[in-house]
Amino acid sequence: MPFVERVFSGVQPTGNLHLGNYLGAIVNFVKMQETHNCIYCVVDMHAITQGVDVWGGPAELARNTREVTAAFIAAGIDPRKHIVFNQSQVSGHAELAWIFNCVARMGWLGRMTQFKEKAGKDRENASVGLFDYPVLMAADILLYRATHVPVGEDQKQHLELSRDIAQKFNNDFGDSIRAQGANDGLFFPLPEPLITGPATRVMSLRDGTKKMSKSDASDNSRINLTDDADTIAQKIRKAKTDPEPLPSEEKGLEARPEADNLVGIFAALAERSKAEVLREFGGGQFSSFKNALAELCVTKLAPIAGEMKRLVSDPGHIDSILNDGSDRARALAQETMNLSKDIVGFIRRR
Ligand code: TRP
Repeated sequence: MPFVERVFSGVQPTGNLHLGNYLGAIVNFVKMQETHNCIYCVVDMHAITQGVDVWGGPAELARNTREVTAAFIAAGIDPRKHIVFNQSQVSGHAELAWIFNCVARMGWLGRMTQFKEKAGKDRENASVGLFDYPVLMAADILLYRATHVPVGEDQKQHLELSRDIAQKFNNDFGDSIRAQGANDGLFFPLPEPLITGPATRVMSLRDGTKKMSKSDASDNSRINLTDDADTIAQKIRKAKTDPEPLPSEEKGLEARPEADNLVGIFAALAERSKAEVLREFGGGQFSSFKNALAELCVTKLAPIAGEMKRLVSDPGHIDSILNDGSDRARALAQETMNLSKDIVGFIRRR
């Protein structure tokens, strides 16, 4: 029996959601709602894997958790038809992560580039949680036996690790899984990343070779989802460009990272291809393209910022959405946890 298709994805509440998070992940979350049952999680347990100086402490974490929830809803995620919740409210994430800790291998985790980047030179001083981060991520996805995971380009390696963990679990416990009658010995699906759209990697507005990032010192390098219309337009007008006019074909964007980035952002927001955008703007001056891009950004993003502001002003309402989503997520998770415990041989109350 094939697995029922289900979508799961998560966003960390670590502050400053920006255009990169929006185009790289959240727009795809919104789209997947049309065809799949979706679960969207604010991964607050992942958020605390770096030092408290990095994630900002308890008040900041709670504020950011509500803000990401607000962004989901403002962007068009329907928390009644689908599930929106915060990770720490469903204990199955941590429980399944423990089982997976005993399936995953040190060597697999040691190869994760995100860990190497985030830990930097001083690995002795990185938290165990930061090293283990990808195992918790595998548990997030597989707790719901999700089959499809919309993510940004940078999460590809973590998805591969999730597949490796699912496969090794299915393998290690194959006999037990068959004895439970589960899916021909395949208990966990091998989840697939969905990385789509012309702007899966949005670059800094100040340097087209660097990713747009919440931690860049210059606020002008990114468009925050909370920026108002004037700020958005100003940042686009100030964005770095080169002196050439825009090319008429995509090939002309090679070796022009800033131009490529801005055309990609236009294409993604307008839901057109880069080729189409260049057919309209190629040969023209950068300034007129920038005006059109600023207008498009404001039209698409300013209403989201406005709606987020309205939503976060009523934290009680946001919390009730998270509570309701957590209740529904917990019910689904319980089923996987019970079966997983049986498969491993943990005795449970019946
Ligand atoms: N690691 C992801 C990121 O930083 C966030 C995340 C945590 C996630 N758990 C997940 C994404 C499960 C997809 C599925 O973007």
